[in-house]
Amino acid sequence: MICKITKKKIKPFMTFGKMPIANGFLRKNQFKKEYFFNMEVGFSKEISLFQLNDHPAPKQMFNKNYPFFTSSSKEMVKHFKSYANWIKNKYKRNLKNLIEIGSNDGTFLKNFDDKKINLIGFEPSKNVCEISKKNGIKTINEFFNFKNVRKLKNLKNKVNIIAAANAICHIPDLISLIKGIDFLLDKKGLFIFEEPYLGSMYKKQSYDQIYDEHIFMFSASSIKKIFEKYSFELIDIIPQKTHGGSMRYVVGRKGLSHISNNVKKILREERIKNIDNIKGCLSFKKNCEISKKKLLTRLNFFKKKKYTIAGYAATSKSTTILNYCNIGSNYIDYICDTTKEKIGKYSPGMHIPIVSMDHFKKNVPDKIFLFAWNHKKEILKKEKNLNKKNKWFAHIKI
Ligand code: SAH
Ligand code: TMP
Repeated sequence: MICKITKKKIKPFMTFGKMPIANGFLRKNQFKKEYFFNMEVGFSKEISLFQLNDHPAPKQMFNKNYPFFTSSSKEMVKHFKSYANWIKNKYKRNLKNLIEIGSNDGTFLKNFDDKKINLIGFEPSKNVCEISKKNGIKTINEFFNFKNVRKLKNLKNKVNIIAAANAICHIPDLISLIKGIDFLLDKKGLFIFEEPYLGSMYKKQSYDQIYDEHIFMFSASSIKKIFEKYSFELIDIIPQKTHGGSMRYVVGRKGLSHISNNVKKILREERIKNIDNIKGCLSFKKNCEISKKKLLTRLNFFKKKKYTIAGYAATSKSTTILNYCNIGSNYIDYICDTTKEKIGKYSPGMHIPIVSMDHFKKNVPDKIFLFAWNHKKEILKKEKNLNKKNKWFAHIKI
């Protein structure tokens, strides 16, 4: 495989096998034509970048039927309010133009209520983009890349902040992305973005963070090394609790900002914990194999006991667990979810029925596989009458 940044050859260190599109919930008549790719992962030693090899083309994943809506999680709505407030407080003096990459249904941008700020969202998935527009947010229904950004001639070097969350790891052509950022940002402009953290994935063994859309799992070391190649530098990092452990990265033009102590501290930690080198990948691989065995042992035990099992939340992450461990309707009767676009369809690859929350309430199983483990607090609060010992489980410690 070829590193998506250095363009040098690297050897994949593990494969999860054939994977479908993680958010490709489908109907029975679509089973035969379902798309699969080989989900291999590799690591560039030069820039410490954890990345997928093959993956579907972005248009196959982000289109008029993208079934993920930021507003489906109350906790995330709250998080985006505090993220926006953090930006407002820190940079309020000179905020004139702000762009968000991957603005989805507009949950984040909605928080900037100052009419003097020119807000623009870039969102290629048409259905979520339409919702954002209905929310009154100027949203461009295109991929953020150099070709599309160059059309915004009047914003050349005029943008103060480009923000993003859980979107940059979805963009395979990071070089074009950075060229776009360079085109738009003013001299003191900042690129601020949050992403699931490689270190948290290693710690929790949450390999389900890896799926077609998540082409990269970033760390402070990789972000530092990538941006240094393009005359930018990592100036701050703020750990976040979202999505099982994320990082907020702040990147500015080289030599113009103070570098926070947090950057040095986290880089040092990454060296000690082998997050910046291949050793971390190799022990991760071993742990994935152990985790798979443990999960299957547990499910087989449940089956032997004749327990009924259902999944809670048809997350994109669950596609990796189910396909990697080969878990289908032989173990799991159904997966319930709140998203109307998923209900009545089947899970990608393993074809487990997706049902409504109503169905779940009428058919509560003996054991509940919490696929949305990153929303545990919110879900257990909602389902407090089901909050019994040993009722909920996941492939990781929850
Ligand atoms: N920021 C939101 C959405 C994350 S899902 C949140 O954290 O909840 C990722 C989003 O990025 C999707 O809405 C997808 O359509 C969008 N996306 C994918 N590639 C993109 C690109 N090149 N430019 C802008 N948005 C992109
Ligand atoms: P994701 O992990 O791919 O982001 O998807 C989260 C899914 O979880 C989405 O389909 C909505 C679903 N969900 C529920 O069904 N109930 C909930 O309470 C929450 C927070 C999410």
